Amino acid sequence: MLAESNIIAPHGGQLVDRRVSGEERQERLREARGLTWLSLDRRALSDLQMISTGVFSPLAGFMGRDDYESVVEDMHLASGLAWSMPVTLATEDEGAKYLKEGSTVALVDSSGEPVGTMLLEERYRYDKECEAREVYRTTDKDHPGVANLYRQGDVLLGGEVELIQPPDRGPFPRHYYEPGELRTIFAKKDWRRIVGFQTRNPVHRAHEHIQKSALETVDGLLLNPLVGETKSDDIPAAIRMKSYELILEHYYPKDRAMLAVFPAAMRYAGPREAIFHAICRKNYGCTHFIVGRDHAGVGSYYGTYDAQHIFEEFEPEELGITPLFFEHAFFCRDCQGMATTKTCPHDPSLHVFLSGTKVREMLSKGEYPPPEFSRPEVVEVLIEGLQADKDDK
Ligand code: ADX
Repeated sequence: MLAESNIIAPHGGQLVDRRVSGEERQERLREARGLTWLSLDRRALSDLQMISTGVFSPLAGFMGRDDYESVVEDMHLASGLAWSMPVTLATEDEGAKYLKEGSTVALVDSSGEPVGTMLLEERYRYDKECEAREVYRTTDKDHPGVANLYRQGDVLLGGEVELIQPPDRGPFPRHYYEPGELRTIFAKKDWRRIVGFQTRNPVHRAHEHIQKSALETVDGLLLNPLVGETKSDDIPAAIRMKSYELILEHYYPKDRAMLAVFPAAMRYAGPREAIFHAICRKNYGCTHFIVGRDHAGVGSYYGTYDAQHIFEEFEPEELGITPLFFEHAFFCRDCQGMATTKTCPHDPSLHVFLSGTKVREMLSKGEYPPPEFSRPEVVEVLIEGLQADKDDK
C-alpha cells in the first residue's frame, strides 16, 4: 500500500484539502459574512478543521444520510470504503428551518466570525438510539459519547465544507502538524514504517512499554495524543503535553520519536473509535497503529480486547494501516520489569497495576503512584499541573 514516495497512501487514495487559499480568503470571508449562518460548538469546529486538513480523508464534509446510515449500520461509507464513526453536524429543529438545502451556509465560531462554509446538500432526521446502540454499543446515557449524542440537535446537516480561516494551530502550535506536513517530515527522516500511538492519558510505564516494544520493529514512533474535547475528569491536555515533552526529552531517542497533537474530540466509542483512530493515523502517514487494552474505552462498557477484535471485521487491505495489538501490560515484581500475561508466569498479586480512576484520585491528592507504574518525574509534572489548575478555579 506504499505509494512511490514510500509514504502510505491516504484513506481513499488522496488527502483531502478543503482549505481556502490565502489570496481568496478576504473575498470569501466577505461573502460568508452575508450568508445565513450556523454556530459551531468546539467539537464541530474541530471536525471542520480535521475534515479540511485531510485528517478525516476521504471525508470532504459532514456526512449526508447515505454515508451516515451506511456507517452506523455497516462501518462503511456509501462508496464501500471502510469508515467506523459518524462525522455529522447536528442542529435543532428550530434553527434548521432557516437553512435551505442547496444553499451555502456560513459556519461561525462562538464570536460569530465565519470559520468556514458548507454547501448544505441535505437536512435529515436520524435515530439517536440506533446510533448509540450500533456505534457505542450501549444506549446508557451515562456513557459520555452517548450523552453527547443525546444532547445534540435532532436534525443532521450534510454537505461539503471549506475552511476559510487558516487552520487553528491551537494551544500547542509547536506540536501541531497537518497530515501533509507530517508526511513530509517522515519522508525527510526516511522513516518508512511508522507506528502511531493514540492517548488521552499521561504516558505511564505500560504505555512506554508498548510504544517501545512497537518501536523495536519499526523506524519511528509518532506520539499522537488527543488534545480535543475530553470528559471533564480526564487530565487536561495542557498538563499532559508537559509530561509528554519531558518523557520524550529524557527517555526516547530523538531521531526515532516525535510528538504531534491529534486535535480531535474524544468519542469514547471503544472498538469503533479504534478503527477511526487508525484511519486518521494512516492519513497522517503512519503505517502501523497501536491498540492495547480497552482502547478508547470508558467505564466497563467494552471488553478489554473488543477494540482489537473489531479489526477482524475488516479485510486488512480495507484499512491499509496495520494494527499492532498489545496485551494488558504491567510491572511484575518477580520479573523485575514490564510484562504482560503473554510473557510473565507470575501470580497477579505481583503485578503493579492501577486503574485510571485510582491514578487520577492519587494525583489530585498529590500522592505519587508507585514508580513501577509511572515515572516519578512524570508524576511530578502532573501533580504540579493539577494543583495549579485547582488554585486557578
Ligand atoms: S485511549 O482512550 O486514548 O485509548 P489510553 O490513553 O489509556 O486511552 O490508552 C492509549 C493506548 O494505550 C490505547 O491503545 C490503549 O489500549 C493502550 N493501553 C493503555 N494502558 C495499557 C496497558 N496497561 N496495557 C496495554 N495497553 C494499554
